Amino acid sequence: LRKKFIDYFKKSEHLQIPSSSLVPDNDPSVLLTTAGMQQLKDYLTGEKDPIVDFGSQKLISVQKCFRTADIDAVGDGAHLTFFEMLGNWSLGNYFKREAIEYAFDFFTKELKLDPARFWITVFEGSDHIPRDEESIRDWIEQGIPKERIKEFGMKDNFWGPVGKTGPCGPSSELHYDLDKEAGKDCKNPNCGPNCKCGRFIEIWNLVFMEYKKDEKGSYVKLEQKNVDTGVGFERLLAVLNQKCSVYETDLFDWAKSYEGIEFDSSSSDQEKLRLSRIICDHLRGAVFLIADGVLPARDDRGYILRRIIRRAIKHGSTLKLKDSFLLDLASKVIDFYQEVYPELETNRKLILQALTEEDQKFRKTLKAGMKFFNQYVDQVVSKRTSGQEKLVLDGTEVFRLYETYGFPLELTEELVKEKGWEVDKEGFKKAFKKHQKISRAGVKKKFGGVGEWGKKVAPQHTATHLLHQALRDVLGKHVKQAGSDLNPERLRFDFTHPEVLSKREIEKIEEIINQKIKDDLPVVKKEMDYKQAIKEGAAGLFKDKYKDKVSVYKIGDYSCEICAGPHVKSTGELKSFKIKKEKSSSRGVRRVKAVVGN
Ligand code: SER
Repeated sequence: LRKKFIDYFKKSEHLQIPSSSLVPDNDPSVLLTTAGMQQLKDYLTGEKDPIVDFGSQKLISVQKCFRTADIDAVGDGAHLTFFEMLGNWSLGNYFKREAIEYAFDFFTKELKLDPARFWITVFEGSDHIPRDEESIRDWIEQGIPKERIKEFGMKDNFWGPVGKTGPCGPSSELHYDLDKEAGKDCKNPNCGPNCKCGRFIEIWNLVFMEYKKDEKGSYVKLEQKNVDTGVGFERLLAVLNQKCSVYETDLFDWAKSYEGIEFDSSSSDQEKLRLSRIICDHLRGAVFLIADGVLPARDDRGYILRRIIRRAIKHGSTLKLKDSFLLDLASKVIDFYQEVYPELETNRKLILQALTEEDQKFRKTLKAGMKFFNQYVDQVVSKRTSGQEKLVLDGTEVFRLYETYGFPLELTEELVKEKGWEVDKEGFKKAFKKHQKISRAGVKKKFGGVGEWGKKVAPQHTATHLLHQALRDVLGKHVKQAGSDLNPERLRFDFTHPEVLSKREIEKIEEIINQKIKDDLPVVKKEMDYKQAIKEGAAGLFKDKYKDKVSVYKIGDYSCEICAGPHVKSTGELKSFKIKKEKSSSRGVRRVKAVVGN
C-alpha cells in the first residue's frame, strides 16, 4: 500500500521526501511530530523556496507521527498514538480541485474503493474565513451527491497550526461508511461523518493551507495557496481489508499470536480486547520514540514516553501477560518494521535497554502502589457516611502515587475513573509545586552550567558551546544537551548519543574546535524573543519558550545558543581544546570531560 501510494503520486510528478524524525528539529517549541507538514512549515508559509531545496513544488512522504490528543480513545479500533501518514503536498502549485481529484481517483480507481460509500466534510465558514464553496462544487463534480457532503466548523474542518502560530487552513475530509452493526443502531437522526457511533471512519484529510495564524491570533492570508494532505495508513489498510479495527491488519502481526493478547473485535471479552490494543499501540509507539532519541524522563517528550510505557506495563499486568512481554513484543516490533524503518535495527540495543530499565524501575513499585491505592479506596469507602458525596482521591495521595510509586498522573486518573471516582487535580498540582520548590536548587546545579564559579569559567563556557555544535556536526543532529557542569579546571558535558565515541570521532571534534579557536571568532550576545531566536537557529531548552526575552550567544556563524552567559569576547582566548575523557553518563547519554588553555 505504501508503494502504491508513492508510485501513484510519482506518476504525477511528485517527489518523495523521507519521513522526518518524531522529534522535530526545526522547532523546539513543539514536542513531537504529529503530521507530515511539520518539516515543511517554512515552505508552506513561503519563507523557503521548495524549488531551490527540492527542485519540486509537489511532494509526498510516508511520515511517522505521534499524537497524544486522542490517547484516551486508543483501545477502540481506529485511534492510535503512533501511526504512519501518507501525504501529498502542493507548495504554491495545484489547489483544491486537483487535490480532490487526486484523492478520489486514488481511492476509487487505484484502490477500487466503492465511490458510493464516501461521505465528505467541508468547512462551513466562520466570522473571519469564508465557507468553502469551491470544495463543495469540486466534490459534486466528482459525482458525490449533495446529501453526502456535510459542513462543519473550526473544530472539525479547520486544520492547524501545530503549536500557537503557523500555516493552517480549511479542510475537506473523506469519510468511509463501514456500514457495520453499530451504525445501524445509531439513534442520531443526522448520523454521518463525525457521529460518535463509529460507523464512519475518516481516512483522508485535505487541508487547503492558505492562512497563517500570527502571534496575535489572527488568520492572515498567505501569498501562496498550498495543499497539505494526510491519509491514516493503518486505517486505510483496515478499510481495504474490510476489518473492524487497525489491529486486525497485518501491521499488528507481530503481536497476534502472543499469549494473552486479544485482537478479535467480536471477542466476548471486550475489556481484554481494549487493554490488548492499548498495550500494543503504546509499545509500538515507545519503540519508535526511543529509536528517534527520546528516553523516559520526568518532563517533556521523555514524560510522554514514560507514561505510555508504564501504562502498557500496568495493563499487561492486569492481563497477566508474561513478565517479559514488554521486551518480547518490542523485539518483534523491531523485526517487523526494520525493513521500512532501518533506524529501529540500528538502535535495537538502545531500545531494549531503555525498555528493560523502565520496566525494572516501574515493576519494583507497581505492586506496592496498587496495594496502597486499593487500601486507600477501601478505607475511604468504609468511612463513608452517606452514598451522596462525590468520591475524590486526595491530591497528596495522587502525588504520593506519582513520586513514591512512579504512577504517572494520567495512569492514576484512569484507575480512579474505573471506580467512578475523581482526582483532586488542584491538590496534586499544589503538592507537586511544593516538592519542586524544594528540589529546584538541585536541578539548577545540574543544568545551570556556570554555578558558583561565575565569571571565572567564561572560557569553559564558550568551549561548551563549540563542543555542542561540533558534536552535532560529527555525530548527528540527534545530539542534545543533557547536562553541563563547569569549573576553572575543566568542563563536563552530557549529551544524548547511543554509542561510545570512536577515537577518530574524538579527534575530529577536537580538530574542529581548535580550528574555530584559531579563527578567533567573535562571541556576540543579542537579546530577542524566544520565537525569533529559534527562527535564527538557536539551540535552546524548551522551558525558555515561556520567557518574553532570551539572550542568545553567537560564536561567529558557527554556533548559536540561548544562554545566560558569561562568555569570552572571542574564541582565541581559549587557546586550545582537548578532550580528556569520554564515558557513559546514563543510558543513551554520554559524558565528555575536556580542558581549555595551554
Ligand atoms: N496536516 C493534516 C493532518 O495532519 C493533513 O496532513 O491531518
